[in-house]
Amino acid sequence: MVRYIIRLVYVLIVLLAATALASPAQRHFELSDERQKDPPLTIPEEELSSALTCPYGDPQLNSTIVLLVHGTGSTGNETWAATYGPALLSDGFVPCWVTMPNRSLADAQISVEYLVHAIHTLSRLPSSHQISVIAHSQGCLHLQWVLTFFPSTQPLVSDAIYLAGDFHGTASGAVYCEVPHTLPDTPHVQKGCLPSLWQQMPESKFLSALEAHGGTGAGQLTDGSVTSIYTLTDDIINPEPQTSKLSPCPKDTCTCANIPIQHPLLLCPPPTPGATPTDHFNILTSAITYALVLDALTNEGPADVKRIIKEGKVAEACVRGVAEGMKNGAGEWVRGAMMGVLSVAKGGKEEIGKEPELREYART
Ligand SMILES: *[C@@H]1O[C@H](CO)[C@@H](O)[C@H](O)[C@H]1NC(C)=O
Ligand SMILES: *[C@@H]1O[C@H](CO)[C@@H](O)[C@H](O)[C@H]1NC(C)=O
Ligand SMILES: *[C@@H]1O[C@H](CO)[C@@H](O)[C@H](O)[C@H]1NC(C)=O
Repeated sequence: MVRYIIRLVYVLIVLLAATALASPAQRHFELSDERQKDPPLTIPEEELSSALTCPYGDPQLNSTIVLLVHGTGSTGNETWAATYGPALLSDGFVPCWVTMPNRSLADAQISVEYLVHAIHTLSRLPSSHQISVIAHSQGCLHLQWVLTFFPSTQPLVSDAIYLAGDFHGTASGAVYCEVPHTLPDTPHVQKGCLPSLWQQMPESKFLSALEAHGGTGAGQLTDGSVTSIYTLTDDIINPEPQTSKLSPCPKDTCTCANIPIQHPLLLCPPPTPGATPTDHFNILTSAITYALVLDALTNEGPADVKRIIKEGKVAEACVRGVAEGMKNGAGEWVRGAMMGVLSVAKGGKEEIGKEPELREYART
C-alpha cells in the first residue's frame, strides 16, 4: 500500500511536470545520459513541457500511454479531442498529445524537439517504460525524424502508428510554394511559403536528409513495431501510395506493415457508412482505421488485416463508419482549421523564400 501511494505520488509529479506546472525539480527527470548521442535541444525546457498535455490522462497506473502527434495547420486539441482522445480513453489507454508551435507550420526541425521531449517525459512514468505514438500527416514525418536523428527515443517507443503520413512529401505542395501566386490584397506576385510546407515538397532538403539516414524506412524501432495506414484517395498528399509507404525493414530486424484503407480485404459494401471514401482528414475518424490502430496497440507486432477480419472487427467497422467514441465530422473540422490557417498565412510575413537550412546534425 505504501509503495502504491509512493508510486501514485510519483506519477502525479511527473504528470504535473508534463502539464507545465513543474518547478525546477523537473530537471531531475532529464535523461542526460541517454540523450548524449542525440543532438542538443535548443528550445527551453519549460516551453517544451508546456506543449504536452494529457487531458484524458487520469494517471491510471499501468495503462499504456499513447502519444498523439497532429499534422500541418492544426493543434493537438483540434485533431485529437473529438477523435483518438476519447476513443483511446474508453479502450483503456491514456492518450496524451503535444501541440507544435505555429500549428506545425514552423521549421519542422523545431517541432521535432517538442516530440523528443514528450517521448522522454512520458516514457519516464513508472507505469510505462515504453509508450506508443500515433501521428497524422506531417506528424508522421516528425516521428520518423525523431526516431532517426534522436536515437535515445528508439527503445522508448513500442508502436509507431502512422495515419496518412507524407514520408516522401506531397507533389501538391507546389500550389503553396513554388508556383507564384497573387492575392487580392497583395498585387505583387508571391513566391514564398511557410517553412514546413517547403519541407514537405518532394525532394526537399528535409526529406532528402530523412531518406539518406534511413528515415523513410520502418527500421528505427529497436523494440517495437511500425504500422503505416493511408488512403489511396487522399486529397491532400500525393502520390499515393508512394508517399505514405515506408520501405520495409530487413526481415527479423523489425516488424512493420503498410496498409491502404482500400486493401481488398477491408472494403466495405455500399451502402454501409464504412464505404464512404476515406480522405486525408476523415481517416482520423474512420472505424476501419481505428480497428487497425487498436489491433497494433494490443498485439505484438504491427496491425494485421487478417486478424481483425477474423475477429469480426471489419464487419463491425463497416456498419459503424465512424469509430466508437469519436465525433462524426471531426476530421472535416480539422480540414477547415488547416485551410483557414493556410489561406490567412498565404502572402503573410511568416512565409519565406526558400526552405529552412538543415541543422548541422542532419547535414552529414
Ligand atoms: C502491469 O500490467 C501487466 C500486464 O497486465 C502486468 O504483467 C504487470 O505485472 C503490471 N505491472 C505492475 C507494476 O502492476
Ligand atoms: C478542444 O476540442 C474540443 C472538441 O473539439 C472542444 O470542445 C474544446 O473546446 C477544445 N478545447 C480547447 C482548450 O480548445
Ligand atoms: C511563429 O510565428 C510567429 C509570428 O510570426 C514568429 O514570431 C515565431 O518565430 C514563429 N515560431 C516559430 C517556432 O517559428
